[in-house]
Amino acid sequence: MSDSEKFEVIFESDGNTWKTQVAKGETLLDAARQCGAPVYTLCNGIGACVQCRVRVDQDEAHLSEPSALEKDRMGNIFHLTRERLACLTCVTGDISVVPIKPRLPKKKKSMRTRKPRRKPS
Ligand code: FES
Repeated sequence: MSDSEKFEVIFESDGNTWKTQVAKGETLLDAARQCGAPVYTLCNGIGACVQCRVRVDQDEAHLSEPSALEKDRMGNIFHLTRERLACLTCVTGDISVVPIKPRLPKKKKSMRTRKPRRKPS
């Protein structure tokens, strides 16, 4: 295998499919950006937001091992959840993954919508 070899990455979600090819060592987030797959990010791929989760149903051997940072963010339970962080997972072979919709933080109530307090009489 040469370093210039490309691997096929397939993203499947809600009946749609996105395909691209990436070089060994590129991340799943790089692949998603190339083909426009719906992998979300708030931290621009530095492993801080945990919005870029993908589910790996097969061929997990074609991905890099979870790093200490990824284990810190996701826990060491890949064998249960099958979820990886796309920005911290490098492609080492042909792979198919499912992007997971992000869990965005709940909006806080605006100060302006609160009712004014009653004045004691
Ligand atoms: S893009 Fe933020 S943790 Fe992956």
